[in-house]
Amino acid sequence: MRPYVILNAAMTLDGKIATATGSSNISGEEDLKRVHEIRKDCDAIMVGIGTVMADDPRLTVHKIDANPDDNPVRVVVDSKCRTPLAARITNKDAKTIIAGANEYKYDFKVSDRYETFKKRGVKFFFSGDKRVDLVALMSYLHEEGIEKLMLEGGATLNFSMIKAGLIDEIRICVAPMVVGGANAKTFFDGEGFDTMDEAVRLELVDSYPLGKDLILTYKVLR
Ligand SMILES: NC(=O)c1ccc[n+]([C@@H]2O[C@H](COP(=O)([O-])OP(=O)(O)OC[C@H]3O[C@@H](n4cnc5c(N)ncnc54)[C@H](OP(=O)(O)O)[C@@H]3O)[C@@H](O)[C@H]2O)c1
Repeated sequence: MRPYVILNAAMTLDGKIATATGSSNISGEEDLKRVHEIRKDCDAIMVGIGTVMADDPRLTVHKIDANPDDNPVRVVVDSKCRTPLAARITNKDAKTIIAGANEYKYDFKVSDRYETFKKRGVKFFFSGDKRVDLVALMSYLHEEGIEKLMLEGGATLNFSMIKAGLIDEIRICVAPMVVGGANAKTFFDGEGFDTMDEAVRLELVDSYPLGKDLILTYKVLR
């Protein structure tokens, strides 16, 4: 058993979710409110360590009316437990789980950061050898009571999650902007598939304009 997973992101018309230098303010105000409504509706929000390092997100519900109980559990996929002590995702506004890989478990457990995080109430889950086993992580999160999970990137984790068949729905904000850049992160990076035959198929189930942006909702077909 695993949670129902909704991947949400904002991208430019040319499929970029950040520029090559890491600038990622793509969503308009209306879209940010939409994102926070999804957060409020989910039991957990998950991001990769690349996103934590680049954006230092809080991942709480704060752009709409909400109380602290509306904050979902925050999950960082972070094999080597590199999450900085100052990362806002580990503040006391909501529960946090750091998902690491078994190879680095001991190194991390003898570090000072481990005790500091534990004092803050941060929980840990270790799976996989050198990289987090996403199937095992989803199963653990479901056991922890997470029924609905919002995946908020970034590019590398998005690809691993869809390749593993762990995404049920995609909601994408397409902003009327073009940034280019061969090194700019796209919606899905990772190693990619070799042929179009291997592509994950989607079905468009909703589309509507929101301010200057376009919101598209897709169901992931099996
Ligand atoms: N526009 C948007 O909506 C949006 C949303 C989110 C992020 N972003 C942007 O996306 C960029 C970050 O993307 P990113 O690709 O660099 O990083 P990412 O996808 O956030 O994190 C990737 C990292 O996760 C770790 N990881 C552990 N297990 C994994 C697994 N099984 N599969 C995949 N990753 C695993 C890996 O690091 P370890 O091996 O060290 O664990 C990997 O390098 C930032 O620029 C951010 O601004 C944009």
